[in-house]
Amino acid sequence: MPSEGFLPPSLGRKRNMCGIVGYIGNHDAKEILLKGLEKLEYRGYDSAGLALISEAGVHVFKEKGRIADLRKAVDGNVFAPIGIGHTRWATHGVPSKVNSHPHQSATGRFTLVHNGVIENYELLKRKYLADVTFNSETDTEVIVQLVEKFVGEGLEVLEAFRKTLSLLHGSYALALLDAEENETIYVAKNKSPLLVGLGSGCNVVASDALAMLQVTDQFVELMDKEVVIVTKSGVIIQNLDGEVISRVPYTAELDASDIEKGTYPHYMLKEIDEQPAVMRKIIQTYQNDQGKLTIDQDIIEAMKEADRVYIIAAGTSSHAGLVGKQFIEKMAKIPVEVHISSEFGYNMPLLSERPFFIFISQSGETADSRSVLVKVKEMGCPSLTITNVPGSTLSREADYTLLLQAGPEIAVASTKAYTAQIAVLAILAEVTARRKGIDIGFDLIHELGLVANAMDVLCDSKELIEVIAREFLAVTRNCFFIGRGLDYYVCLEGALKLKEISYIQAEGFAGGELKHGTIALIEEGTPIIALATQENVNLSLRGNVKEVVARGANPCIISMKGLNMDEDSFVIPEVHELLTPLISVVPLQLLSYYAALHRNCDVDKPRNLAKSVTVE
Ligand code: AGP
Repeated sequence: MPSEGFLPPSLGRKRNMCGIVGYIGNHDAKEILLKGLEKLEYRGYDSAGLALISEAGVHVFKEKGRIADLRKAVDGNVFAPIGIGHTRWATHGVPSKVNSHPHQSATGRFTLVHNGVIENYELLKRKYLADVTFNSETDTEVIVQLVEKFVGEGLEVLEAFRKTLSLLHGSYALALLDAEENETIYVAKNKSPLLVGLGSGCNVVASDALAMLQVTDQFVELMDKEVVIVTKSGVIIQNLDGEVISRVPYTAELDASDIEKGTYPHYMLKEIDEQPAVMRKIIQTYQNDQGKLTIDQDIIEAMKEADRVYIIAAGTSSHAGLVGKQFIEKMAKIPVEVHISSEFGYNMPLLSERPFFIFISQSGETADSRSVLVKVKEMGCPSLTITNVPGSTLSREADYTLLLQAGPEIAVASTKAYTAQIAVLAILAEVTARRKGIDIGFDLIHELGLVANAMDVLCDSKELIEVIAREFLAVTRNCFFIGRGLDYYVCLEGALKLKEISYIQAEGFAGGELKHGTIALIEEGTPIIALATQENVNLSLRGNVKEVVARGANPCIISMKGLNMDEDSFVIPEVHELLTPLISVVPLQLLSYYAALHRNCDVDKPRNLAKSVTVE
């Protein structure tokens, strides 16, 4: 019989997404919790639930689907000053009402929400809970049943909770209610994000401060293996041995309006439009009093010492990394490798003698990237995280952090974080180059300013892009993006954007590569989106377009002013050749957006996805 520490390989190091909230105070919890869950819906949106304790007892509401569905299911007549809630991205068990959280113990006394994965749940079930009938297929139910079992054996609730936690292997952010004592939320965390918020006459719990900005901007960060007793008048943090830990709260520097859609129909459109302002904020943030770009000296020294930079990232962030590779190689003259994190962790290349690792992650929580960071730290290599989320796991665990300054990105499809990542990478490359005495030959601050202006122009071109989206993408089943050099990297991003929100089968290819096989897929009318912003390959790219047109493809050429030709569908303003990805991506983002709209897709919450991918 394996011990409780035994992990089946398939379950090792998994974490799930999901979002949790909790409220205890004098007001009615249900609306606060529902609003909080709406803000956390980016973390998972296949089912959701609430548990409230009123004078009449515990009320549990669950629904498959969105928070809007849960809202309809909640009984508006229940007044409860304490409650917990959950939005789920399914891992153990299909999305269903019965598998959705909260889960309850056999007698109904304890009610729990969980974000994470309990790797040894089957073992715990067999060892401690063989006589308990389980309702769901989830790993979570084991936790709540164990608490009840240990309380039944005579332990106080807190002791039973701690004993349960000591048996768990895996990740968890937990909030537990006891129906017999409606003045406490028991909270614990290990590897899954969780914060406690300090309100006036109330306290709250949330996976992300965004959810509870409606109540407070004062939050306390929790560390792994901590237990917290949250009442309406106070918060006590303890370690697993029961020793009290004091921690100073921080002010969440988020503007509540940043997380509202305002007059926009979708967050994605709002976030696309925010890109010029984000560019300007980045220029401002990374500029010193002498008008020079500046980055923490320790980061630059570490970069300068490196004989090779390894960029580790997933999805859109890895596409930004590909562009960053060009910057660092061309400006700072350091060789760069870009690896997708899910591969790097298990198939590590031969490393150079003095590697420097850069992790790029909008959320700072991506499990694939984090597992690489853990290994990189074990090897003693220096690491930098470029992220949008201060205090995120990847930020805390790397040696250094650079922030994107993009403001919260809510839509699942990343837009402004991608361009912010590219801009920060450009700045990092420029400052490193300058430290190495290399003249990059242009004024990056000035050029980024021009990029911001060009982005304004593109954001004002929505009507034309909508027409193009209707013509090329409204009814097609597939689409190819082609480009050469930097344009190729942007094509990868354009294709990912289109796939994830419009469900059109889309692929990005280097212009010269289609003819090596994929050209077989070109049929009469197949849309080809070609990017032409690189002067040295403009003519060869146009040759590639002719090859596919000869086979029936329907070409949509997006070129840069100065390189444009009569047949082009859309011309973007001219910017420095190295910085073209910052603007050529904007029409591609908008094309995806309008394609998704024309196809009646849920733009901000595409199927099967979640914003923070904390599953390996
Ligand atoms: C982007 O549109 C995607 N939703 C996805 O590829 C994302 O970029 C990827 O999961 C990495 O996330 P991160 O930047 O938060 O690490």
